Amino acid sequence: MKNLNLASSALLVALALSCGQPAKKAFDGPAYLDESLPLEERVEDALSRMTTEEKVALTHAQSKFSSAGVPRLGIPEVWCTDGPHGIRAEVLWDEWDQAGWTSDSCTAFPALTALAASWDPSLAGLYGTVIGEEARYRKKDVLLGPGVNIYRSPLNGRNFEYMGEDPFLASRMVVPYVQGVQSNNVAACVKHYALNNQETARFFTNVTVDDRTLYEIYLPAFKAAVEGGAWAIMGSYNLYKGQWNCHNQYLLNDILKGEWGFDGVVISDWGGVHDTDQAITNGLDMEFGSWTNGLTMGMTNAYDSYFLAAPYLDRIRSGKVGVTELDDKARRILRLIFRTSMSPEHKRGKFTSPEHYAAARKIGAEGIVLLKNEGDVLPIKDARKILVVGENAVKMMTVGGGSSSLKAQHEVSPLDGLREALPGVEIVYERGYVGDAGGEYNGVTTGQDLSEKRSAAQLIADAVKAAQGADYVIYIGGLNKSDHQDAEGADRELYGLPYGQDAVIEALAATHPKLVVVNISGNAVAMPWVSRVPALVQDWYLGSEAGHSLADVLTGAVNPSGKLPFTFPVAMEDGPLKTAEQYPGVPGDRKWESSFGAVPILEETYSEGIYVGYRWYESKQIAPLFPFGYGLSYTTFAYGEPKVSKAVTTDGSVSVSVPVTNTGSVAGAEVVQFYVADPEASVDRPVKELKGFDKVWLEPGETKTVTVQLTRESLSFFDAARHAWVAEPGRFDVLVGASSADIRGTVSFELK
Ligand code: GLC
Repeated sequence: MKNLNLASSALLVALALSCGQPAKKAFDGPAYLDESLPLEERVEDALSRMTTEEKVALTHAQSKFSSAGVPRLGIPEVWCTDGPHGIRAEVLWDEWDQAGWTSDSCTAFPALTALAASWDPSLAGLYGTVIGEEARYRKKDVLLGPGVNIYRSPLNGRNFEYMGEDPFLASRMVVPYVQGVQSNNVAACVKHYALNNQETARFFTNVTVDDRTLYEIYLPAFKAAVEGGAWAIMGSYNLYKGQWNCHNQYLLNDILKGEWGFDGVVISDWGGVHDTDQAITNGLDMEFGSWTNGLTMGMTNAYDSYFLAAPYLDRIRSGKVGVTELDDKARRILRLIFRTSMSPEHKRGKFTSPEHYAAARKIGAEGIVLLKNEGDVLPIKDARKILVVGENAVKMMTVGGGSSSLKAQHEVSPLDGLREALPGVEIVYERGYVGDAGGEYNGVTTGQDLSEKRSAAQLIADAVKAAQGADYVIYIGGLNKSDHQDAEGADRELYGLPYGQDAVIEALAATHPKLVVVNISGNAVAMPWVSRVPALVQDWYLGSEAGHSLADVLTGAVNPSGKLPFTFPVAMEDGPLKTAEQYPGVPGDRKWESSFGAVPILEETYSEGIYVGYRWYESKQIAPLFPFGYGLSYTTFAYGEPKVSKAVTTDGSVSVSVPVTNTGSVAGAEVVQFYVADPEASVDRPVKELKGFDKVWLEPGETKTVTVQLTRESLSFFDAARHAWVAEPGRFDVLVGASSADIRGTVSFELK
């Protein structure tokens, strides 16, 4: 074989020389280093050269965010980094606190709820590309994001990191993000798989949910990401069917790796691994963050004590377990390495570039949702003096909120953004209320002094006084990244605005006719004052360019085109979660033997089933404050008659078109939504479900036809008994709308 190779390479050389090409020297190293070889060949060759100890070392962390490579073979270690909105500051070897580098201040991109609110998959591709460039530039191989857990409760502390209440919207937005990240030789690690829909008791809640709900609501975005080529998935902290989700036979082996054929790596959430035998057999590939503080506590707590470290090796050496699972884990991890740090593409990445800031600004502005604009108060015009009120006009929001917290190179506040956008206008500021004067997370500080001596009453009085003589009053408040706000580790305890903000808004509404309320949050909030406020904007945590994005919309430089990715109910009581069993769960008879004692595992039942978000409110005819998919523009749009490509279909493939015209005087974008209803279904189904959308940009007077393609899948529900998707013959209606509650036309067709 060797001689044959020699002869063939000589022939190659001769051939090349004869046609005057410099001979491309055939690679003469080991196959796993030959970048011309297919990925799987390199993986198998590397695997064949590794010892058992080296394979086991791949499967668990060696530091807070890295796992071992194979130094003997020149295979690099794997470096992970948070998070979904930007590249986390470098931390000390085994600490959460930052290492104090001077070269890791990043671009903070908008929260993924803002991206979802843009309803623009091409923007998701841009987002993934630029955040992937920052990860690659910082030499990170795995980006621990995006998060796609469904927005089940408005109280969930991490909804700001996710993509709303509808599985179809989240599915369409997650794929381009993943592909953008991975185009930089960086793995996206889609999280938190699965059923991690709250922060309360997240480490020890066992979720019970029927199969139909699991497949129709909570799995689709993860399935779409896997079908879109995601290279990593993060197991979640909670339990499902009594098994911890970081090593869960049902979710990881049966569904993810079985039904979906996932060929990537399952990474645990940090501290989500509890048992060696289950970690070996139930689909986990890489263990991170187990309850140890690594090398500083000696052998009893070093990384060697990880569940997939010494305990795993001992089981193999004693013959208690074989190496079949180990080879599968190692194969998947090598595949990850050859897709990232050892990819033949050698991408370099970029960091805090003008293009990255431009992307952050664009995504932010496109995600902002205009909820009210009576009398066309907005965009701001003919203003000489503007009063800006509210802590969120000045408070840095990139620091805090949990693992998505960032050390941003800069963060333009809403107040600064407005001042920069309106240089000739006198813009005065009043605090209005005191929220969270803090500003530190994991050693990253905002450097802001938000201390305040005035009483709440005085703050309101000062704001009301300052409003006199102003042409506009812009109130900028909402939630923040503090505990029990929009933050990891705990859910909100109130649906309404905190810190007495309602009183401030009421006082300003009573004082000034041109009051604009800007709500910055990652969750819906109660708005008892909504009828007394002429203009209302749903803003999000927009990162480095927050002030520029908001000013672009308020001044009209950008015509708002965002649509709500989740429903704003009037009150929590209107929602589907009525009992403690549904949320946050009740103590069961199982215990978690944690390192701080035995903790009763909460039993939580998603008894509302598929009736989540608008599916719930519409099934109960409960009018929300603002519906899913709702958002206004500075222009208006008219919809023509929707048309269907055929009246009868045998395979469900039908296209639906509708002409849309910009009937206003400024260019704008409209998100046209297509909902499917199955009025003849043999099972209970929602009134309608989002199964298509497209965003269209129109000049004044311009008309374009928007078309979406439906498939059998668009018509199907999940039949748990048959464990299959079923589209029943009969009539289907397609409702075309500007929001879930603003249907502009309906067409029907029959599935034979
Ligand atoms: C956290 C989060 C997860 C994050 C990880 C590393 O607890 O749940 O989203 O990526 O640990 O910080």
